[in-house]
Amino acid sequence: MNFKWPSDFKPVPEEGWAAAQLEELARKYDTVEEHGWYDNLNPSVEEIISNQGQQTLLLDYSGGTGILTRRLLARPESEGFGVLIVDSSPKFLRLALEKSKGDGRVGYRLIRYLKEEKRLQSLREVVDESIWERGVDAIASTNAIHLYYELDGTMKGWFDILRPGGVAYVQSGNIRNPEAEEGAWIIDETVEHIHRAAMDIVRESDEFSEYQKVLSDKDYMGAHDSLRSKYFLPVRHVNHYQTAFEAAGFRLKSSVVRTFDALVTDWYDFLAVYHEGVLGWVGGATKITGAPATETDIVIRKKLMRMAMERIFDGKSSFRASWTYFQCEKPS
Ligand SMILES: C[S@@+](CC[C@H](N)C(=O)[O-])C[C@H]1O[C@@H](n2cnc3c(N)ncnc32)[C@H](O)[C@@H]1O
Repeated sequence: MNFKWPSDFKPVPEEGWAAAQLEELARKYDTVEEHGWYDNLNPSVEEIISNQGQQTLLLDYSGGTGILTRRLLARPESEGFGVLIVDSSPKFLRLALEKSKGDGRVGYRLIRYLKEEKRLQSLREVVDESIWERGVDAIASTNAIHLYYELDGTMKGWFDILRPGGVAYVQSGNIRNPEAEEGAWIIDETVEHIHRAAMDIVRESDEFSEYQKVLSDKDYMGAHDSLRSKYFLPVRHVNHYQTAFEAAGFRLKSSVVRTFDALVTDWYDFLAVYHEGVLGWVGGATKITGAPATETDIVIRKKLMRMAMERIFDGKSSFRASWTYFQCEKPS
């Protein structure tokens, strides 16, 4: 039986973002679906399918372009599921809507950034009262928890909207975990290594002599270091997240680390979209210099990224990367 939303709930809200044009950035992000390292979603799908029954309402928090939602709803076991995707990116949410068009099991809510208050809306502010009254049976957060500036507030929102006995299925590759396979990368930490290798390559080679001068400009390089750490946030320890779950009232059911193979070419394709965040100092980032880098600078940035990746991965075609998976229960 198809999932039954509360009677006054509109899965697709009549809001500007839902009628907007599809955006290139979201489409580019969505190509990760084809990447081997995006197998990181498969254990999350299995965990949810094996623990949740029919008429489950899953909150896909930070559901992005809806990749997890589609993988989950493609499974026959989830026929009676409802999924509410909540995300702070209107562009990603718009693409999620496109991909699940006509699938009445999926609802969408946008978290807006309140400029004057300098904060994102809370879950309470974006999800309808009828859903709060019902409660959700489960929450998924994949590849996103490391991005939450307001971790405690977010955990509190999850705890409050979950029904007693409900489970949050949370995973991210950007968590320091002492249990990880030896030699496995934290995927975003490759960026810092790419940056350092690119500086070495520029120093060593006349081909890049034009870019050598900035390397000794501390202010310029420091400003680009700060920019990089905004695109790719500093990695936190697994204990940091476990403490936050427990502080919000959750019982940690499990914490598991898994490892995936990532193709260097796939990871390059992904990072190349964010070339300004990775190697913005090559040509200068708009936010820092006030002017966009030239086409030539961008070509050089990408070339350096490829060369640096060749160097840090010793010319291999793939690398191992670890992901941490949590299951947290709201006690009955
Ligand atoms: C790397 S994407 C992952 C998307 C999806 N869960 C997946 O696994 O494909 C991270 C998502 O988190 C969202 N996000 C970032 N900060 C957020 C926040 N504070 N609250 C809710 N969503 C957030 C972004 O808009 C983006 O869609």
